[in-house]
Amino acid sequence: MKVGPDRIRSLSGSGGGPGPPAAQAADGRGIGEAVFDFGERAEAIDCAVEREPTVADDADKMNGAEEAPRQQREKPDPPGYFEGESMTRRRAFTIAAQGIGGLAGAAIVLPAVGFAVAPIFHRGKERWEAVGPLSDFVEDTYRQVVFTETVGIGDAGKTTAYVRKSSKQLGEEPGKYIAVSNRCAHLGCPVRFVEAAGNFICPCHGGVYDFQGKRIGGPPVRPLDHFQTRARNGQVELGPRYSVTSQLEPVRARDPGEFTGGVWEYLYPPRPSTFPPP
Ligand code: FES
Repeated sequence: MKVGPDRIRSLSGSGGGPGPPAAQAADGRGIGEAVFDFGERAEAIDCAVEREPTVADDADKMNGAEEAPRQQREKPDPPGYFEGESMTRRRAFTIAAQGIGGLAGAAIVLPAVGFAVAPIFHRGKERWEAVGPLSDFVEDTYRQVVFTETVGIGDAGKTTAYVRKSSKQLGEEPGKYIAVSNRCAHLGCPVRFVEAAGNFICPCHGGVYDFQGKRIGGPPVRPLDHFQTRARNGQVELGPRYSVTSQLEPVRARDPGEFTGGVWEYLYPPRPSTFPPP
């Protein structure tokens, strides 16, 4: 570090007492040599101007402390880089291997996912089946019928329904037919219509439904499901299943244990494969 004449002048003037000005050095040597008649003070200035390199300075040099900051250094070329290339061979092979690996993985995973998920969205053909002549069904009681709900799986595809004519006294649309599923809305056990009580009773956990299939006791979470009905060629035909709310409003079919109506419609959404309600 070099000390200028001004600095030396200021040091000489603030030393705590009068002394000869810097320009009047007794021995006539130059200002830059900083040897003045200041007594001990001159020694201090001399040290500030020029000092011998210390061990710490040598260590700084060895550690590169005085070199340019790391970010300013020129980045070395990566291994395998040739002048004019925009991408190294290593990088090109890495990308190619990752791409081929991704394709191989997709070829294995996508078909499996497709087979697992596709049936959820597959809605079969709407199917209607005749279950008896119109005259077989009356207003004040049910008649049990068995029909095929799912084709192609033998007896496992059959189900039971209780069918009657609509009742004016119950506020139902006249001239229609009501078909109530025997699948309990709790866990799916087969319920039975008990003529003497006029109720549906589930033997599994004591679920009880009234004459229209509304839940009146036990653990079931909603009324019994219904089937769509129609009269064709003097026969009552049963169609797709649908569920109902506690007010008997039709909604898309739900599985046993799933609530219907209100906010439950969103918390228990129907499967995409179910048919729209009538
Ligand atoms: S399955 Fe019917 S009450 Fe539990």
